[in-house]
Amino acid sequence: MKKFSSEFMIGAATAAHQVEGNNVNSDFWTMEHIPGTMYKEPSLNAVDHYHKYKEDIQLLIDAGLNTYRFSIEWARIEPAKGNFDKNEIDHYRQVLEFCHQNQVTPIVTLHHFSSPKWLISEGGWESESTIEYFGNYSRYVVSKLGHLMPYICTINEANMGKQITKIMKRMTANGSNSANKDNSVDVQVGLNVDMKAKMETYYRALGEAFGIDPRNVQSFLSPRTEKGEIIIMKCHEKARNQIKEVNPSIKVGITFSLYDHQALPGGEPYVEKEQDDDFLNYLPFLEEDDFLGVQNYSRKIHGPDGLVKSDETTRLTKMGYEFYPEALGNVLRFVAKHWDKPIIVTENGISTDNDEERVEFIERALAGVYQCLEEGINVIGYTYWSLLDNFEWQLGYAQTFGLIAVDRSTQTRYPKDSLSFLGNIKNAGLNGLRV
Ligand code: BGC
Repeated sequence: MKKFSSEFMIGAATAAHQVEGNNVNSDFWTMEHIPGTMYKEPSLNAVDHYHKYKEDIQLLIDAGLNTYRFSIEWARIEPAKGNFDKNEIDHYRQVLEFCHQNQVTPIVTLHHFSSPKWLISEGGWESESTIEYFGNYSRYVVSKLGHLMPYICTINEANMGKQITKIMKRMTANGSNSANKDNSVDVQVGLNVDMKAKMETYYRALGEAFGIDPRNVQSFLSPRTEKGEIIIMKCHEKARNQIKEVNPSIKVGITFSLYDHQALPGGEPYVEKEQDDDFLNYLPFLEEDDFLGVQNYSRKIHGPDGLVKSDETTRLTKMGYEFYPEALGNVLRFVAKHWDKPIIVTENGISTDNDEERVEFIERALAGVYQCLEEGINVIGYTYWSLLDNFEWQLGYAQTFGLIAVDRSTQTRYPKDSLSFLGNIKNAGLNGLRV
């Protein structure tokens, strides 16, 4: 019987801006509403998780899951520079307490893409002052709620800005202005980078909205310089130090977006370069971390001329990247060659309208995780992305990653079969679940 141990964490993940609604003091809210916006639609009240968190977590509990990864929204906690909002701390305290009352382990992310609007006006993620600001915010949260937070991910997908920078460079080099023209598997966060033409209008409006030179508008997902890369890692270190000073028992980590890079003959140097860029070069900053968050959705294949594009035979997900659940096990094996502390799969999932396909994805991905455990890899948990269908950033609400569907006109929840399927894996094991 392939059964995960009872301590193994299995659950689902969300991020504040994607589910809570009305994150009005954040940079994304601003970017969603400016003229020429790149966003298909604004997040508005999202799936109102801010008010419906109990119902949502209860569905996770009823399915037999024991872990909930969610993020605390910096723009709520510190809506204006230096002004911390106690009511918002109370809100997240209630969320955390609800988890604990129901034996659900909370895994909290302090920064999941969205930032306070004021931070961007102060120079955002290319400014050294952000290190101090992020440290202050982290310390404040932990001084109030740390006793309820066993695991903290400081920053979600610290490497995402670099991945986006590369996509933009490749597009410019190809003279292309459409990332998905060829169905290539380029974009993991739903950042359709089909933007060159609109860029100028957009950045002008951005500059006005943030009250600074548009060239200096640096949100977390803006293309990033090497200096920006270092700033992000220093933010991580600063937050980790602050957290540990306040509460040394909290386990602190960071998460990375990691593809399964595979080489065809001649593609090996490309794979090595990608693995270094995506992960290995960050290792010196992670030495004092307690765990690593791995986030994987697909693979990339590299040949002698670089990235190999998908063709008509490739099975694609609704996001346009390859359906390949085995990528997760492969990524865990790669990571484990360089990392022997605990690993948590903080995201893995599929956008599809066919829930049977999601069930297949989950079963095959978790079979990979199970195999890794048998090989002795130190994986301690898995949170599926996502608990709910939600706001997929630039792509809006059309993408459907969730274990629970939501009718946003009434905010009614409709649990999908994949939710109970994941719960059954947790409690009965992997064998013979799917007919
Ligand atoms: C991000 C999520 C996003 C998911 C699906 C991850 O890169 O952390 O916020 O919704 O991918 O695209």
